[in-house]
Amino acid sequence: MVMVETDVAALTDIDPDRPLMKRVGGRLMAIARAGDKVFAFGNTCPHWGAPMREGKICVKRNEIECPWHRFRFDLATGESVASTGLRRPLPVYAARVENGRVLVTVEKREEKDSPA
Ligand code: FES
Repeated sequence: MVMVETDVAALTDIDPDRPLMKRVGGRLMAIARAGDKVFAFGNTCPHWGAPMREGKICVKRNEIECPWHRFRFDLATGESVASTGLRRPLPVYAARVENGRVLVTVEKREEKDSPA
Protein backbone atom coordinates (compact mmCIF):
# COMPACT_ATOMS: atom_id res chain seq x y z
CA MET A 1 0.00 0.00 0.00
CA VAL A 2 1.48 3.31 -1.07
CA MET A 3 0.33 6.41 0.79
CA VAL A 4 0.51 9.82 -0.84
CA GLU A 5 0.35 13.15 0.96
CA THR A 6 -1.20 15.94 -1.09
CA ASP A 7 -1.32 19.69 -0.56
CA VAL A 8 -5.02 20.48 -0.93
CA ALA A 9 -5.47 24.10 0.18
CA ALA A 10 -4.30 26.93 2.35
CA LEU A 11 -5.73 26.69 5.87
CA THR A 12 -7.24 30.15 5.33
CA ASP A 13 -9.15 28.83 2.29
CA ILE A 14 -11.31 26.70 4.58
CA ASP A 15 -14.25 28.54 6.08
CA PRO A 16 -14.78 27.21 9.65
CA ASP A 17 -18.52 27.12 8.94
CA ARG A 18 -18.35 25.46 5.54
CA PRO A 19 -16.07 22.50 4.80
CA LEU A 20 -14.24 22.58 1.52
CA MET A 21 -15.19 19.91 -1.00
CA LYS A 22 -12.17 18.59 -2.80
CA ARG A 23 -11.20 15.63 -4.97
CA VAL A 24 -7.97 14.12 -3.68
CA GLY A 25 -6.44 11.02 -5.24
CA GLY A 26 -9.71 10.32 -7.05
CA ARG A 27 -11.81 10.57 -3.88
CA LEU A 28 -14.31 13.33 -3.23
CA MET A 29 -13.98 14.44 0.36
CA ALA A 30 -14.98 17.20 2.74
CA ILE A 31 -12.16 19.04 4.46
CA ALA A 32 -13.23 20.78 7.63
CA ARG A 33 -11.49 23.18 9.95
CA ALA A 34 -12.11 23.43 13.68
CA GLY A 35 -9.78 25.85 15.40
CA ASP A 36 -6.27 24.99 14.27
CA LYS A 37 -7.20 21.38 13.45
CA VAL A 38 -8.30 20.00 10.11
CA PHE A 39 -10.27 16.86 9.27
CA ALA A 40 -10.87 15.09 5.98
CA PHE A 41 -13.74 12.65 5.48
CA GLY A 42 -16.16 11.30 2.92
CA ASN A 43 -19.22 13.44 2.34
CA THR A 44 -21.76 10.61 2.35
CA CYS A 45 -22.98 9.15 5.64
CA PRO A 46 -22.82 5.33 5.57
CA HIS A 47 -26.29 5.18 7.17
CA TRP A 48 -28.73 6.86 4.76
CA GLY A 49 -26.41 9.11 2.81
CA ALA A 50 -26.63 12.46 4.57
CA PRO A 51 -24.16 15.14 3.47
CA MET A 52 -21.51 14.90 6.18
CA ARG A 53 -20.11 18.34 5.29
CA GLU A 54 -23.15 19.60 7.22
CA GLY A 55 -22.26 17.49 10.25
CA LYS A 56 -21.13 18.87 13.57
CA ILE A 57 -17.52 18.28 14.61
CA CYS A 58 -16.60 17.79 18.26
CA VAL A 59 -12.85 18.47 18.49
CA LYS A 60 -12.70 17.35 22.13
CA ARG A 61 -13.98 13.85 21.29
CA ASN A 62 -12.51 13.77 17.77
CA GLU A 63 -15.93 12.93 16.36
CA ILE A 64 -18.39 14.14 13.74
CA GLU A 65 -22.15 13.93 14.18
CA CYS A 66 -24.33 13.23 11.16
CA PRO A 67 -26.83 16.03 10.46
CA TRP A 68 -29.78 13.68 9.82
CA HIS A 69 -29.92 11.02 12.56
CA ARG A 70 -27.06 12.18 14.74
CA PHE A 71 -24.95 9.05 14.56
CA ARG A 72 -21.44 9.95 15.64
CA PHE A 73 -18.29 8.78 13.89
CA ASP A 74 -14.72 8.68 15.16
CA LEU A 75 -12.68 11.00 12.93
CA ALA A 76 -9.57 8.82 13.34
CA THR A 77 -11.16 5.50 12.33
CA GLY A 78 -14.48 6.42 10.71
CA GLU A 79 -16.25 3.87 12.90
CA SER A 80 -19.63 4.68 14.39
CA VAL A 81 -19.20 5.50 18.06
CA ALA A 82 -22.47 3.91 19.20
CA SER A 83 -23.45 0.35 18.35
CA THR A 84 -25.55 1.25 15.35
CA GLY A 85 -25.07 -1.94 13.39
CA LEU A 86 -23.54 -0.02 10.51
CA ARG A 87 -21.35 -2.29 8.47
CA ARG A 88 -19.38 0.40 6.73
CA PRO A 89 -17.41 3.17 8.42
CA LEU A 90 -17.33 6.76 7.25
CA PRO A 91 -14.20 7.12 5.08
CA VAL A 92 -11.70 9.31 6.93
CA TYR A 93 -8.28 10.52 5.86
CA ALA A 94 -5.23 11.78 7.74
CA ALA A 95 -5.03 15.55 7.53
CA ARG A 96 -2.60 18.03 9.03
CA VAL A 97 -1.42 21.62 8.70
CA GLU A 98 2.13 22.58 7.88
CA ASN A 99 3.25 26.14 7.19
CA GLY A 100 -0.34 27.21 6.68
CA ARG A 101 -1.06 24.50 4.09
CA VAL A 102 -3.48 21.62 4.55
CA LEU A 103 -2.03 18.21 3.70
CA VAL A 104 -4.18 15.12 3.25
CA THR A 105 -2.87 11.57 2.99
CA VAL A 106 -4.66 8.95 0.90
CA GLU A 107 -3.80 5.52 -0.36
CA LYS A 108 -2.60 5.68 -3.93
CA ARG A 109 -4.95 3.86 -6.24
CA GLU A 110 -3.44 1.54 -8.78
CA GLU A 111 -3.71 2.83 -12.28
CA LYS A 112 -5.28 0.40 -14.65
CA ASP A 113 -3.60 -0.27 -17.93
CA SER A 114 -5.46 1.38 -20.70
CA PRO A 115 -6.15 -0.71 -23.78
CA ALA A 116 -3.66 -0.15 -26.56
S1 FES B 1 -27.96 9.46 7.45
FE1 FES B 1 -26.33 9.73 8.85
S2 FES B 1 -27.03 8.83 10.68
FE2 FES B 1 -28.63 8.53 9.27
